[in-house]
Parts: sequence; C-alpha cells; structure tokens
Amino acid sequence: MAANHDPRVSRLARSLRGTGLFFRQAVQTFRATGAVIPSGTALATALTRYVTHRDDPSVPINILEAGPGTGPVSRAIAARMREGDTFDMVEANPKFVDHLTGLVKSDPVFLPVADRVTVHHALVTELGTDRRFDVIVSGLPFANFTAEEVRTIMEYYFTVLRPGGHLSFFGYLYTKQVKAIIAPLDDYLRQVRSGWEVQEWVNRYAVGREQVLRNLPPAWIHHLRKPLG
Ligand SMILES: C[S@@+](CC[C@H](N)C(=O)[O-])C[C@H]1O[C@@H](n2cnc3c(N)ncnc32)[C@H](O)[C@@H]1O
Repeated sequence: MAANHDPRVSRLARSLRGTGLFFRQAVQTFRATGAVIPSGTALATALTRYVTHRDDPSVPINILEAGPGTGPVSRAIAARMREGDTFDMVEANPKFVDHLTGLVKSDPVFLPVADRVTVHHALVTELGTDRRFDVIVSGLPFANFTAEEVRTIMEYYFTVLRPGGHLSFFGYLYTKQVKAIIAPLDDYLRQVRSGWEVQEWVNRYAVGREQVLRNLPPAWIHHLRKPLG
C-alpha cells in the first residue's frame, strides 16, 4: 500500500502514537506519569503564556520544560519560539525521551528550531545549576509527590530561574476531593501536605491563575514570577 503523505494524516498518526505510549506508561508508572492521557491543546497553549508574552520581545529567551511526556506542551512551545531562543526538555522516562527525540527530528513544528532544542534524559533536579532560564514550564505531577519532593523541585526551579522569569505549572481540578473518597488515608494526607507546599510557593510568587475546563481532566494553572531584587 502506498504511504499517505497528507500532513493531517501524519499529524493524527503521530498524536495517536503519543497517546497510546502515554497511556501504556501511565499504567506502568502512574506515580511519575500522573495522568492517563497527554494534555490537550487548550492546556498546552495556556501553559505557554510567558513564551508568547515577553517583557522585551527583541531579547531571545531560554526555556525549560520539566516532564514533557509525549510532547503536547513541547510542540506548543516550539511553535512559539523566536530567533535565538533555546529550549531544553528534561524527562525522567526513557520511553518518552526516545519519543521526544524522534519528534524533534521529524515533526514539522520542531524542524525550524531543532538546532536550538535539547532533550535531556534525567530528573529535572539533576540538570545542574549552571544554566539560567527565563521561562520554566513544569508538567510534573506534584499531587503524586511528597511535600519534601515538591520543595526540592520548587527550590531548584527558583535557583535556575532568572530574576523576573516565570514558572508555569498545572494540576488537575478536584483530585483532593476524589482522593478523600477513594484513596487510603496516608496517601490522602501525603497529597494534602504536598498541596500545602505548592500553596506556599503560590502565596509567595503568584502572578496569575487560570482554569482550563477544555482539558481531560479539567486543570488549573499557576503562573509564578521570581522577583527582580
Ligand atoms: C503529568 S505528565 C505530563 C506530560 C506532558 N507535559 C503533558 O502535559 O501531557 C508528567 C511527566 O513528568 C515526568 N516526570 C516525573 N517526574 C519527573 C522528574 N523528577 N523529572 C523529569 N520528569 C519527570 C513523567 O515521566 C511524565 O512524562
């Protein structure tokens, strides 16, 4: 059978491959993956707010994405990159790393910027502190982590974030309420504590919050800013 070169068909095939891979990894490693399907377009777009809106549009920026998974948010970021911007993705799961590496080499959204995109196979906190980023987009499932893990990651973000830089991250609506009903007590309490830790950072640095109801499951986003001084 002849290969189908319609770009819409290629895009759909790529998206289905990504969703299938994400679901299989979610079944095997739910604690780290934290969702059963990748983020949708509305959530991905909302997470790129500070890639789109910049203090000085003439100055290139360095972007970090933690936990890109199969890359729906990464694609939205790549589509909004401008001349001179760099983009680093750091992903813990080797299956996702392989998928992302393929995406950077073949997806039409990535091709124009591929020489300024790097995929790292690591935990985000292993990336080192010698670089500085203007925008960090985090897809990490904080609701599945302990309060100590959340604090370590937030401290890392605020170390490598440039003063005036932005961190955007998301979670799902109503997970605490659902856990209160179905989860064992110690898991529910762990999530309450990690939620308090997230809230402390939000109280200190938040500059915006939005809800994205057009996502499965519906999500909230927090935007934080590192002070200049
Ligand atoms: C909820 S998924 C988000 C995936 C993607 N950003 C999206 O929105 O569809 C979380 C991702 O974070 C990755 N991850 C979890 N802990 C990590 C860590 N400490 N460092 C880097 N990646 C991590 C998981 O492997 C998974 O790909």
